[in-house]
Amino acid sequence: MTDPEISLYSAAPASEPERQYYFMDRAKELVKEASERAGRALTFHVTTFGCQMNARDSEKLEGILRKVGYIEEADEEKADFVIYNTCTVRENANQRVYGRLGQLGHAKKSNPHMMIALCGCMMQEPQVVEKLKKSYRFVDIIFGTHNIYKFAELIAARMESDRMVIDIWKDTDRIVEDLPVARKYPFKSGVNIMFGCNNFCSYCIVPYVRGRERSRDPKMIIREIEKLAADGVVEVMLLGQNVNSYGKTLDQPMTFAQLLEEVEKVDGIRRIRFMTSHPKDLSDELIEVMGRSEKICRHLHLPLQSGSSRILKKMNRRYTKEQYLDLVDRIRAAVPDISLTTDIIVGFPGETEEDFLETLDVVRRVRYDSAFTFIYSKRTGTPAAAMEEQVPQDVVKDRFDRLLREVQDISAQVCAVHEGTVQEVLAESVNDHDPSLLTGRMSNNLLVHFPGDPSLIGRLVKVRLVTCRGFYYLGEMV
Ligand code: 5AD
Ligand code: SF4
Repeated sequence: MTDPEISLYSAAPASEPERQYYFMDRAKELVKEASERAGRALTFHVTTFGCQMNARDSEKLEGILRKVGYIEEADEEKADFVIYNTCTVRENANQRVYGRLGQLGHAKKSNPHMMIALCGCMMQEPQVVEKLKKSYRFVDIIFGTHNIYKFAELIAARMESDRMVIDIWKDTDRIVEDLPVARKYPFKSGVNIMFGCNNFCSYCIVPYVRGRERSRDPKMIIREIEKLAADGVVEVMLLGQNVNSYGKTLDQPMTFAQLLEEVEKVDGIRRIRFMTSHPKDLSDELIEVMGRSEKICRHLHLPLQSGSSRILKKMNRRYTKEQYLDLVDRIRAAVPDISLTTDIIVGFPGETEEDFLETLDVVRRVRYDSAFTFIYSKRTGTPAAAMEEQVPQDVVKDRFDRLLREVQDISAQVCAVHEGTVQEVLAESVNDHDPSLLTGRMSNNLLVHFPGDPSLIGRLVKVRLVTCRGFYYLGEMV
């Protein structure tokens, strides 16, 4: 959308997004003045922790930063404005933020223009904000997951005062559309279809930091995808914590499968991906749509978490081992060449060796293309944190190593089955190590490196998979 005509000197509009365009103009003036004082253009650097959802949020932050006049600086410590978009899904994510923030505090001492903003999931935890207020006074702006659209307003507020600006909301039912976005790739993009989560898996902090589930209006989603297609995007990734429950809370409810059929109709979009699916909500309707779709990629990320029905119950996952395996069978029957990936947690409270063997059993039966394996991390405020029988660390470590070995052995075998075939590949980048090669992604999400000209980036090309190198291929265009 074009910027609404708003005078800088009138009072800020109350409605969104007009209010934010007003503050973008205001912040732009302030950034210009600061830049004149510094005698150079001011720069920003956004560091993103966590998932695809956060990556998409960072593109929105970046859209606002560019709009108000900052330019990007690749080196975090040299930037005038550093933004950490944080994750809190596991404790080690938090530790990384504190560690890096300490270093940044030193860099700030030698750059008088430097500002630091922290946002994202970790900021939704009250004890984190308390700690920052007490021990990290050099931070300029703190905000959470519900109000990133207000970034320009917060920048203006900080630049007009000398105080730390803190704005955290507990929850929200609002979705603000039509704000600027700076996409990382010209040819593919994430698209939010829903926010928040209502599942309350007993180990998971996400429902507390991302709030209640809200689906975006399908018309807005399709309009955004049409615009992306007109702008040269060929692949979209529909994003939500639990995409399979999309649409349930809309005034005119619609299913995720129905939404996918609408996205399929958008000319110019050649590939559709989505993240993340909860097994309990994955419908037969969706399986059917995936089976007949020309555009939905042959890849499904289907978090297992545990293979033990007893532990799944304690996790509040609301499916059993047998139901999960049956679902996998049904998906494979409808989409035979599908690649399946998963998330697994080891060391959930009360997990016995027998429970763990059930997890290994599922891994051996499903034969995942790849699996993200996590050591259980206790998150304050979740039901699992209060459970007794936390598993000793050495036991967890041993199980984790055994699981990882199994997962890696299987995925090397599964990956190799495509050797010799010709696949449609989206050329995504010049290879990091060898500039004569391009790196492309297959429908099933595997990567292949092949000789090619950078002008092919963003195009779908046919590549023969010549050799499998464990988790990726070397190939040649045909
Ligand atoms: N400890 C370990 N792993 C977790 N995950 C979510 N919460 C925790 C936790 N407390 C994992 C799950 C989820 C992935 C995004 O992170 O496997 O699917
Ligand atoms: Fe993403 Fe969850 Fe981490 Fe937030 S806490 S960034 S939603 S993985």
